[in-house]
Amino acid sequence: MTKYKVKVGIIGGSGLDDPQNQILRCQNIITREKAKNEFGLPSSDLYHGSLNGTDVVLLSRHGPGHKTSPTAVNYRANIEALRLAGCTHLLASTACGSLQESICRGQLVIPDSFLDRTIKRNTTFYDGTSPKYFGVCHMPMEPAFDPTTSQILFEVGKEIGYDIKKGGTIVTIEGPRFSSKAESNAMRLWGGHLVNMTTCPEVYLAKEARLLYAAVAMATDYDCWRECEDNVHAADVIKVFKQNINKIKDILTKAVKLIGERNWDKEIDALQELRQSSNVSSHT
Ligand code: ADE
Repeated sequence: MTKYKVKVGIIGGSGLDDPQNQILRCQNIITREKAKNEFGLPSSDLYHGSLNGTDVVLLSRHGPGHKTSPTAVNYRANIEALRLAGCTHLLASTACGSLQESICRGQLVIPDSFLDRTIKRNTTFYDGTSPKYFGVCHMPMEPAFDPTTSQILFEVGKEIGYDIKKGGTIVTIEGPRFSSKAESNAMRLWGGHLVNMTTCPEVYLAKEARLLYAAVAMATDYDCWRECEDNVHAADVIKVFKQNINKIKDILTKAVKLIGERNWDKEIDALQELRQSSNVSSHT
């Protein structure tokens, strides 16, 4: 007997903006809901269904037609909507620039850490506005991504035969502009492997909401640090992502099945305990 029923939320990033597109491999889409919650309206409707026998909920990070900028995405409403929908896990896809020679276009990476360079986002549920998130919570960020879920994504990718790397640091910039050459080189010096505009605050809000979060990142460009390469351009990001989109869909589809077959009670309880012990406030 398992204590928790597994449900996997899938957050589709650039190139997976249309949940209908994600749904192609999803059987039995049952309902679609607006899912407004105390933090506002999520970027898209939630699509509830099942995939390989596991319950799933699909959300488009930038909304249908990619109309919501990375800064304007209501990350808290998105994560809260998926939590209230009963998700135990979140799998996110993200298009990234490569900051390393060895990470080429179309390369898949399962990130394990982040550098947050965002400046204009709601970075916590614990800001005193919600009774559900009472007090001050100092969540540890190592590990930033759930290691077991990340390992499943990696193994599935390898098993299918894709070129996929395990581990890597994503630098999240505010955007919507891309980085200058000096910024790009600075991010390399800091140890960044990839750069995007959305992993932060998504990854740490998920942890505050005690959801097991992992991401599959795809390098679409070399940002602008590499002399012999074309500098990043939005059209190329979408083009390369779309060319490789089936890799992401295959990995997510298989990973959902494996996640659904496993007992996650230990991991979910551990995250719950971590959240409780990280909250330094008392109800007096
Ligand atoms: N997403 C894809 N490529 C990117 C880059 N070079 N910088 C920020 N976000 C990106």
